[in-house]
Amino acid sequence: MTALDPTFLDRIHGAGVAAPVRFPLTSPIDGRSLASVADCGETEARATLDLATGGFERWKRTTAYERAAVMKRWHALTVAHEAALAELMTLEMGKPITESIGEVKYGAAFVEWYAEEAKRIAGETIESQFGHKRLLAIKQATGVVYAITPWNFPIATVTRKIAPALAAGCAVIVKPAEQTPLSALALATLWRDAGGPPEVFQVLTALDPRPVSAVLLGDLRVRVLTFTGSTQVGVHLYERSAKTMKRLALELGGHAPYLVFEDAPLDKAVREVMACKFRNGGQTCVCTNRIYVQESIAAAFTERLAAAVAALKVGDPLDPATQIGPMVDQAGLAKIREHLDDAAALGATVLTGGRPLTGLYHQPTVLTGIRPEMKLMHEETFGPVAPILTFHDEAEAIRVANGSPFGLAAYLWTADLRRAFHVAESLEFGIVGVNDGVPSTAQAPFGGVKMSGVGREGGHWGIDEFLDLKYVSFGLQV
Ligand code: SIN
Repeated sequence: MTALDPTFLDRIHGAGVAAPVRFPLTSPIDGRSLASVADCGETEARATLDLATGGFERWKRTTAYERAAVMKRWHALTVAHEAALAELMTLEMGKPITESIGEVKYGAAFVEWYAEEAKRIAGETIESQFGHKRLLAIKQATGVVYAITPWNFPIATVTRKIAPALAAGCAVIVKPAEQTPLSALALATLWRDAGGPPEVFQVLTALDPRPVSAVLLGDLRVRVLTFTGSTQVGVHLYERSAKTMKRLALELGGHAPYLVFEDAPLDKAVREVMACKFRNGGQTCVCTNRIYVQESIAAAFTERLAAAVAALKVGDPLDPATQIGPMVDQAGLAKIREHLDDAAALGATVLTGGRPLTGLYHQPTVLTGIRPEMKLMHEETFGPVAPILTFHDEAEAIRVANGSPFGLAAYLWTADLRRAFHVAESLEFGIVGVNDGVPSTAQAPFGGVKMSGVGREGGHWGIDEFLDLKYVSFGLQV
């Protein structure tokens, strides 16, 4: 089955919350029309929340083994639909098809992992100083979860948030990015096919998220907000959630440094920096934004990186040979242009690339002559742009890497074990890749410090966001 098979699309549409108005979707590949989806507002948000509240009351009473069984079937169906899901994702947001296939596998891994983790939710008994008392700390599902997910990983960011929530016994309402609702709807379709209760995983599509969010953030029944997106929006949601005291998991912007030390094997370091920087065309919150190379190897490293970047194949993301597809939309492309124009005006040198192509495509670019005041040194470019800077020694490398309000991911390449430990421990970031440009995986914690957010997704830590800890004291004096 292909992604745009009418039967598959019909079923996908049926899995979303309906609304009288719809909005059209076009592909960033060539502007072709893909589908239209419901444009939900306040009315739909209220009805969805009522359903989710009822769904939660039933789902939380199921056993972990029952939830795990549904999730295992959901995982198997996701794996079985890998090709159609990957094609849908590529059509929606332009990710090269080989990467989309990788993302379906990555996204499915969260479902499998949390299906298993559901059975490992465990409380504790606590010793009492009184012989007639027994003290327990138990964990219970928190309630209805509102998940706002981004377009850059339209399957994996959904499953990374909702698989632990569903495993814990929560009900989820997903508001996918307006660019990529189809991937979320496809996941909801497969959830239903797996026997998952529809009201426990609902998808509210909306062109403008504000009316929907106004209802859900203002309602006490929504107990958790989980969001991936910009720091600016994250701060706003944090403030809005205070009045109803929601628990928050916010995965926000990053500005990842990559430190390449002089003992790094150049070919391997170039390969990892390329994987880190140009994954998803640079549209990843853990992509490196600042590549710092030790002075003694800077010329050789820069030459090799520029040659590798010049050889990247840009083109139709449905072609398996393509490495860089289109940017997601006009705003994404405009930000790349703004950063490159600003860097050029402040004296940066373009070693390769630097120009927009037709449509939403842009040349992969390597820049040197970077100055601290350039915009790309403060904001995520979210595109295929690699700025190279140099550093003198380890102390300077740590200082410049930490010199950012963001703290999501950081990377280093070294062959020296002492340095690897020392630098990894000194970096003020939630994720550190040592000789590893793509560290994300279902069983590990994902999240940032400082302005990059609060809370963790992934691993056994990820499920804690959706569990309340309750203390129960038994007096046995009867
Ligand atoms: C993201 O950019 O939000 C996800 C990246 C990843 O999972 O590695």
